[in-house]
Amino acid sequence: MTEARESWGSKFGLILAMAGNAIGLGNFWRFPYMAAENGGGAFMFPYFLCILIVALPVMFVEWNLGREGGKYGHGTLGPMIYLQTREGISPKKAAIYSAIVGGITFSVPLLVDAYYIHIVGWSLGYSFLSLTGNYMVGGSTSTAAAFCNYISDPVMVFVFWGIALACLAFVAWRGIEKGIEAWAKVMMPALYILAFILIFKVFTIGAPVNPDWTPLAGLNFLWNPDFSQITFSTFLAACGQVFFSLSIGMGIICNYASYLKPEDDITLSGISTVSLNEFAEVILGGTLVIPIAYVFGGAEGMSAGPGLAFINLPNIFIQMGAEQFFGTLWFLILFFAGFTSAIALFNYVVTIMYEDFGFAKGKASLTAMILFVLVGFPVALEGLLAPGTGQTFYLDELDGWVCSYLVIFVGLAELIGVTWLSKNSLDKINYAGQFKIPAWYYNIFMKILAPLFLLVAIIGATKDKIVAGYFKIVPNFLDPAKVTNFDGTVLFVNGARLLIIAVIAFGIYHSYKTLKKHYGKEIAENKVSIIKEA
Ligand code: ALA
Repeated sequence: MTEARESWGSKFGLILAMAGNAIGLGNFWRFPYMAAENGGGAFMFPYFLCILIVALPVMFVEWNLGREGGKYGHGTLGPMIYLQTREGISPKKAAIYSAIVGGITFSVPLLVDAYYIHIVGWSLGYSFLSLTGNYMVGGSTSTAAAFCNYISDPVMVFVFWGIALACLAFVAWRGIEKGIEAWAKVMMPALYILAFILIFKVFTIGAPVNPDWTPLAGLNFLWNPDFSQITFSTFLAACGQVFFSLSIGMGIICNYASYLKPEDDITLSGISTVSLNEFAEVILGGTLVIPIAYVFGGAEGMSAGPGLAFINLPNIFIQMGAEQFFGTLWFLILFFAGFTSAIALFNYVVTIMYEDFGFAKGKASLTAMILFVLVGFPVALEGLLAPGTGQTFYLDELDGWVCSYLVIFVGLAELIGVTWLSKNSLDKINYAGQFKIPAWYYNIFMKILAPLFLLVAIIGATKDKIVAGYFKIVPNFLDPAKVTNFDGTVLFVNGARLLIIAVIAFGIYHSYKTLKKHYGKEIAENKVSIIKEA
């Protein structure tokens, strides 16, 4: 903790690492089925609106929080928000606000990566199965059964989860420039190259199943907006997807931005991150998965939900021929995308160990790995206890609360903290910027529209969750007739909820303690006294 703060080695490396942070499973696994489930073109209008009204403002605010926090040696959100809000409200109030926001934020990377690393492991395992020409584990005859068997096969699950965990700990231990940046410089270009090869294949495939099911007809589904199909739920789904995909509201963009130098640009870099992510999501993810699914299954082929990536596409690769080659490409794309995001989530937890607990990098990485084994273990256990069912209720419960709820809350708190409770934020954001955000965009979009939009989204999401029984001990989606190991499943769901509450409670306590450690004197005196010049 005494050595100088790490920083990115080059601008190119920073942009690739930030793109790697954002571009993840969300782009290739989640986006296609979310778009398909929400009417294709009907989804794209609210989706782009969310980017303009909410995502860009939150992105600028997060880069700003990170760069400012980094000057004071902080890589986590609690102290970052404190430094900003103490300018507009008293240090005591700022400390309470920041402890709550910092505590909730702590839960996001920990709980998301708890299951995300498993999916990264599945992607690696499926790359291996593709390469060896075998999607069928345990002699099953369909890709759906193969997937269900995969997640209840202890060898496959633990070997590839273990490899993913060990690689993440290794990269985090190597640090920002030699670890995260170096791996992003290899994995991100590789991801783009593999995606282009697969896209080329998709568009030369013709219409082998039905003359009307062409790749272009598939694209039409995505790009033909049917405004009559847009509902409030479509807006909520789009908002959740944009947050997940851009890694906003998770603390991890701020964490990466904290390794900037004070004179580094954040406006153009923020826009570059959004653009690279959207290119990967809409152009690569959308152009790959949606036309493939359409060519082989028409409109029905698009209704596969989350199974699209691991169940339907392998099936299609088998029909396409050369499944070993194309399957391997596809799952390596998922692995590279997932790994470069998983490391951002992992590094947030490492940063807490390193900065707040004073652990050396190696010990911090190892401790983070042990933590992820503990919080991620139930994902593996659930697969083992209900073999062959494909049940992932613990995973779904964590994802449902954290990714469609807590991240939106964090985004709202960041916007309010920076644009309302701080001072001169536009100047700070524009400082050293290669592009200046105009005052009208800041005043209308960042100060008013974005927070309002998120407030409405939180109210809408709460209503949706009440209707879906998320606040009941046995939620509506747990039908005893359909769920294997019903009592056990209720335990997994409620275990996930208790874990979320416990992690948030610990996070708030820890954030407050950290603030007291660094800024105790000024919080006690209720007067700002610790100022570091850039
Ligand atoms: N932004 C990351 C993803 O899209 C978390 O998967």
